[in-house]
Amino acid sequence: MTLEQFGSARIASLVQSDKVHKDLYLSEELFALEQRELFGNTWSFLGHASQIADSGDFFTVEVAGQSLIVLRDDKGEIRALHNRCAHKGAQLLTVESGRLTGRFLRCPYHAWSYRLDGALAAYPLRSGYENTGLMACESGRGLSPVADLHVYRDFIFARLNADGPAFDAYFGDVLPTIDLMVDRSPVGRLEIAGGVLRSVVHCNWKLYLENVNDSVHPASTHESAVRAAQAVARDRGSEPMPLAFEQILPFGERYEFFEGMGGRVFPNGHSISGTRFSVHSGYGNLGQYVQDLQAAHGEARAKQVLEQSPQNTVLYPSLAIKGSPQTIRVIRPVAVDRTVVEAWNFRTVGGPDLLLDRALTYSRLVFSPMSVVAHDDLHLFESQQKGLRSGPNPWVSLHREHTPDEAKQQTAETSGTSELLMRNQYRAWAKFMTLNMKEA
Ligand code: FES
Ligand SMILES: [Fe+2]
Repeated sequence: MTLEQFGSARIASLVQSDKVHKDLYLSEELFALEQRELFGNTWSFLGHASQIADSGDFFTVEVAGQSLIVLRDDKGEIRALHNRCAHKGAQLLTVESGRLTGRFLRCPYHAWSYRLDGALAAYPLRSGYENTGLMACESGRGLSPVADLHVYRDFIFARLNADGPAFDAYFGDVLPTIDLMVDRSPVGRLEIAGGVLRSVVHCNWKLYLENVNDSVHPASTHESAVRAAQAVARDRGSEPMPLAFEQILPFGERYEFFEGMGGRVFPNGHSISGTRFSVHSGYGNLGQYVQDLQAAHGEARAKQVLEQSPQNTVLYPSLAIKGSPQTIRVIRPVAVDRTVVEAWNFRTVGGPDLLLDRALTYSRLVFSPMSVVAHDDLHLFESQQKGLRSGPNPWVSLHREHTPDEAKQQTAETSGTSELLMRNQYRAWAKFMTLNMKEA
């Protein structure tokens, strides 16, 4: 089904100003359209430049159901090419990451070879193609690059559809959140470290992404995990606390804490929860590191970098960032009820090892499906995916702190618990779903 057949009026009726229709999470038809339109028209996070530090390094990644090769070419440039042989469509690379042995990509099927910029370089039985239409055809042009690619402070993003917003216009004022994270390194550089924690969550990706900015749920969803941690902490008495306690105990804060931490929405679905403070604000002092950061960035910037630790920043629709600890989650939808979530951690180049320890501990503690925290969430995402099918009520309520005119103001401050952060995601959803729609 095309988007035109589906109709912009129907899209608009599914996303109302204070609620969204359950079909957004349940309809396979919408999921297919969403892959092509929403994920095609917006900018998705592909990976980090440190994953391909040297020429010939590559990784493969799937965005909107399309397989991409992200590589560093022989001149050191980062490129993203569709992983689809120009001959008959075989994938050039089927492993997750690696290093090319030469300066070419060679298809394993009939040995067509491509330069690292995607250009067709060689193919067997060349004389058999003389006086044919190959070179005038798209197949003669080689591997297709993504429509647009942008690397922002080593964060690699791509847009797949030719029509869509330019990078800076799309992310706008949310980009300084990446700066805040990168500037935690005295040399302004992060490196992926410690591998990736990848889990398959049996829910629609939007349920996961909503939860990233949901600061009301910890008090109830994670109550038992916090209680257990509090009990262990009491038993330890004056013994020094392991890192995990510094991270898990703040989840037990009261509603007033989460409300007071503040939030902000930006155009195009992006948002920050925890603009004033967050569960990450109380992490211990780091001595010499503070002085190193002041020397590198100046006192004012160092203060700003160290004091701002938002709970989560969403770079809609694929990326959730925590500036401290330095960890990100990447949301990769694979089916209407299946989402791959990746948690990656960063080494803060020039910073203390403790920062990486914090990131790794946090990921294990909170993002791993085996953790004491994430299984609470996963249980609820899966139960939502099932529960939404039941009963006559077709709506998911997003009414908290709703005001009738709020959509007029695209950048706005909120409380830390406002559902404006989610409503803002759905407004962007409707906008980018219908961006290229040609009305009949
Ligand atoms: S499919 Fe790649 S060379 Fe034939
Ligand atoms: Fe949670």
